[in-house]
Amino acid sequence: MSVLDRIGKKLLFSFDPETAHGLSIAALRCGLPVASPSSRDARSPTHDARLKVRICGLDFPNPLGMAAGYDKNAEVPDALLRLGFGFAEVGTITPLPQPGNPKPRIFRLTADEAVINRLGFNNEGHAAAEKRLAARKGRSGIVGVNIGANKDSADRVSDYERGVARFAPYASYLTVNISSPNTPGLRSMQAREQLGELLSRVMAARATASAQPPVFLKIAPDLVEVELEDIAAEVAEKEIDGVIVSNTTLSRTGLHATSLAGEAGGLSGKPLFERSTAVLARMRKLLGPEIAIIGVGGVDSTETALEKIRAGADLVQLYTGMIYAGPALPGRIVAGMARFVERERLGSIRELRDTACERWTSKVLS
Ligand SMILES: Cc1cc2nc3c(=O)[nH]c(=O)nc-3n(C[C@H](O)[C@H](O)[C@H](O)COP(=O)(O)O)c2cc1C
Repeated sequence: MSVLDRIGKKLLFSFDPETAHGLSIAALRCGLPVASPSSRDARSPTHDARLKVRICGLDFPNPLGMAAGYDKNAEVPDALLRLGFGFAEVGTITPLPQPGNPKPRIFRLTADEAVINRLGFNNEGHAAAEKRLAARKGRSGIVGVNIGANKDSADRVSDYERGVARFAPYASYLTVNISSPNTPGLRSMQAREQLGELLSRVMAARATASAQPPVFLKIAPDLVEVELEDIAAEVAEKEIDGVIVSNTTLSRTGLHATSLAGEAGGLSGKPLFERSTAVLARMRKLLGPEIAIIGVGGVDSTETALEKIRAGADLVQLYTGMIYAGPALPGRIVAGMARFVERERLGSIRELRDTACERWTSKVLS
């Protein structure tokens, strides 16, 4: 971490997490030079041809993306791409604006390099995000849109249908998020019968939308074997393009900072790495080689990003790692990936995929 990054982190950590988040978005919106100039250079590691990944008809310049939840209202996707990310996912966006849960609702577990959040889909709603995405239409860069349901919705499935219809013209891909632990009852949509209906209706909505981007399903890390099997079966049957593994966890296993461990919400960051990677490997085994998987949870270095790919991921995302390491992290991770493919003489980062799938699958889900 550079001196400048250290000062920036100290400054942001002097604010409560939600204020710090707002300041970081404002900084990106104002175009503050948080990215190294080299990340915009065509010769930079973020543009190394060996890091390119083609899945679902999309050409990702590199496999590292910004996970959902940072840019909930689609304010700064292009600024995120300039940090060195190969793609950015905005959202979760619900049809109507909603305030989310009462504050405080984000907690830093510094000793664990983790975060607990119970935001509850606070966002400005479809119309505000659509306006911003429409304004960037035609620009290059892969921007996914993560859609959700309003807390008080009478018909949650129809909220997802509306999300598909609204954002299909602007989204490089759509993510159906049913794995946030902070909207009561949402995760039960992962159960087979409910999931089957949701996915059928989402895919029907896509078929009649004005564009047909790939659809990914984002799942929780707290699922047991039989639930994973059911999800994989529905994903295959409904011809979903990919799965994002995973959202935050309800588990508090392995935390050092026990004082905040009792806060309700989803845990992210370092302690999530093991569990989310073990679930990802199981998903790869269940889905086979063709269906796309995005690995997320505890990525904070080149090595953890590469390990997700070894476990079976085509692409990788992060969020909490950047809270602790600052905005230079994506550029650093991607530069490390470029050095890795050079050192190992790989023609493509893709050659790494699944090479540790068996090892990760053999870990017991505790
Ligand atoms: C403060 C915060 C807000 C989040 N909000 C969302 C969200 O709105 N939608 C979503 O799909 N995931 C959300 N996530 C989950 C992340 O996208 C990611 O799946 C999870 O944090 C694990 O990755 P990480 O360990 O790199 O943070 C959020 C995570 C955090 C820390």
